[in-house]
Amino acid sequence: MLESSLPRETLLGRGKVRDLYDLGDRLLLVATDRLSAFDVILPDPIPGKGTILTALSNFWFGRTRGVIANHLLDERPWVTDPARFGSLAGRAVIVRKARPVLLEAVVRGYLTGSGLLEYRKSGSVCGIALPAGLTEASKLPEPIFTPSTKAPKGQHDENVDFAGACSIVGTDLATRVRDAAIALYREAAAFAVGRGIIIADTKFEFGTIDGNLILIDEALTPDSSRFWPLDGWEPGKSQPSFDKQFVRDWLLSIKWDKKPPAPNLPPDIIARTAAKYRDALVRLNPENPALNEI
Ligand SMILES: Nc1ncnc2c1ncn2[C@@H]1O[C@H](COP(=O)(O)OP(=O)(O)OP(=O)(O)O)[C@@H](O)[C@H]1O
Ligand SMILES: [Mg+2]
Repeated sequence: MLESSLPRETLLGRGKVRDLYDLGDRLLLVATDRLSAFDVILPDPIPGKGTILTALSNFWFGRTRGVIANHLLDERPWVTDPARFGSLAGRAVIVRKARPVLLEAVVRGYLTGSGLLEYRKSGSVCGIALPAGLTEASKLPEPIFTPSTKAPKGQHDENVDFAGACSIVGTDLATRVRDAAIALYREAAAFAVGRGIIIADTKFEFGTIDGNLILIDEALTPDSSRFWPLDGWEPGKSQPSFDKQFVRDWLLSIKWDKKPPAPNLPPDIIARTAAKYRDALVRLNPENPALNEI
C-alpha cells in the first residue's frame, strides 16, 4: 500500500510514512508501505512494511506504558466499524489527538551517523562532551539526549543542544521530554539486548494533551531507530542493521543526487528490505500475530 484511501474520512495529511485522518478528538493513523531515504519518498512501496511498523510500535507502546503514557487507543479500528475502515487491518490505529512537541527526541546509546560526525569535529554531540577515543559504533558511557528540530517537509532536521531545545519548546517541556526519552530508551534497550538486538539510537515524538506529556507517532521501529545484531557487534566499523541502510547504500552506489524524484528500486533490493523489517519484529517479538499476516 503506497497510499490509503478512505473516501468517507477527513484526510488531515500524509507524512512520509503515515496518513492521518481526523476523527474529532482522535486520529486514525495509517502506516503505509512508503519508504523514505534521505528525506525523499521512494516511488516503490516495501510490501508489509506498514504492518511491521504498526505491530512493533504497538508492542513497544504496551511494554513502555509504565514509563510514560502513549497515544494508542485502539489497535483494531476495522473491528469497531468495518464499513469505514475495511482494508486497514494491521496498519491502522486510533489514537488520542495531541499537540505535537516540536522536537525530534533522539536518544543515542552508541555513536554513529550524524552523532559520530559531530563527535569527530568537536568531541561532543549536541553540546554533550564525550570521552576521547570513541569510534564508529562505540558504546557511550550513558545514553544521551541529542534533540533535533522538526524541519518542514523536504528539509533536513538539525541537531540542537539542550539549550537550543529549551529555546524551542521551553525549559520545562524540554526537560520532561529529555527525561522521558532517556527512560524509554533504557527500558527498550535493556529488553532488546536480551533478544540479541542493540538499539544504537532512536527517535521519539511526544505530544501534550491538557499539558500532560505523552508518547505519540511510532516507537522504536527500524524507521525511527538503528537496530544492530548484538552478535558480531564490533566498534570501529559500520554495523549491519535491520532498516533501510540497505536501500541507502544502494542509492549511494548508483550515485543518486538525493533530489526528488527518487529512482525505482530493483526487485531484489525491495525484497531484501522487506525481509529486514520483518526480521526486526521476528527477533524482538517472535510471537507477534502480525507475522502470520505478512
Ligand atoms: N497522537 C498524535 N497526535 C497528533 N499528531 C500525531 C500523533 N501521532 C502522530 N502524529 C503526527 O502524525 C504524523 C505521522 O506521519 P509520519 O510518521 O509519516 O511523519 P513523518 O513525515 O515521517 O515525520 P517524521 O519523520 O518527523 O516522523 C507526524 O507528523 C506526527 O507528528
Ligand atoms: Mg513519523
